[in-house]
Amino acid sequence: MFDPKEFVEEAVERLRREIGDRKAIIAVSGGVDSTTAAVLAHRAVGENLVCVFVDHGFMRKGEPERVRRVLEEELGLNLRFVEAADEFFEALRGVTDPEEKRRIIGEKFIEVFERVAREEGAEVLVQGTIAPDVIESERGIKSHHNVGGLPERLELDVVEPLRDLYKDEVREVARYLGIPEEIVERMPFPGPGLAVRVLGEVTPEKVEIVREANAIVEEEVERAVEEGKMERPWQAFAALLDCKATGVKGDQRDYGWVVAVRIVESIDAMIADVPEVPWEVLRRIQDRITSEVPDVTRVLFDLTPKPPATIEFE
Ligand code: XMP
Repeated sequence: MFDPKEFVEEAVERLRREIGDRKAIIAVSGGVDSTTAAVLAHRAVGENLVCVFVDHGFMRKGEPERVRRVLEEELGLNLRFVEAADEFFEALRGVTDPEEKRRIIGEKFIEVFERVAREEGAEVLVQGTIAPDVIESERGIKSHHNVGGLPERLELDVVEPLRDLYKDEVREVARYLGIPEEIVERMPFPGPGLAVRVLGEVTPEKVEIVREANAIVEEEVERAVEEGKMERPWQAFAALLDCKATGVKGDQRDYGWVVAVRIVESIDAMIADVPEVPWEVLRRIQDRITSEVPDVTRVLFDLTPKPPATIEFE
């Protein structure tokens, strides 16, 4: 039986030993993994840990503000905010291949992070890598951007306090550490963000569409969960397909984007299933997306488990 108290005591002790009195740095995203790793390291070395949030422009709606509020104000972490959206969009211009997109985002992330790490004089890198990230990257299924890359280039000593944990265990640790439920229960979100939910070329316009659609999916699913209409799924999100389709709005022909809605159940993201979702919830999601998000004419529901699909679209 996993014991979060015992885990925390050992992890903090180990981090204290590994970091010593050197300066440490961690890239935080506002997700449960990086926040948990940051709080553990903060317990171990206090202000000697700098938490860097790189806003690459592919965050969920309201996420940068939320991260600032929770990590800085509520958890008291030493947060450094880096606004880098223009650089990321520029680097992705004209790129359509999914793995190429992931590679470029990973590279850019390292470049930005490296700059900050130098400025801060950091010698140790703390990472929130968890067990499935390591396994999937090793199997070559997807290049998770928090595995490899950063450590190799940065010449920093790497410590990964969550490397042996699965998500449910990370959540137990997070709760034990007093991390707010809005982070503990927050649905997993990929490192490259909404960029892997925009199929094909990533443009500010397409990211804005998927950001709005995604917020609607999350809101409506959360509402349905609170009303007891469904269980909270592992993830619920929107992706923007790389095509347009004919529609009619008012009595005018409209040629607009196609949004896919994906809702999955999973324990550890290695496999996933698609639960039955009440029809009224799906209809409400569709209705809100086509009426509130400009230029979307169709909403599709993805029925595919993992395997054969992956959870994210790219
Ligand atoms: P896939 O799409 O590989 O996703 O079935 C499995 C889980 O991992 C999340 N995911 C990522 N998480 N960096 C991350 O930290 C990434 O590059 C990344 N890609 C996918 C995904 O949201 C799902 O929960």
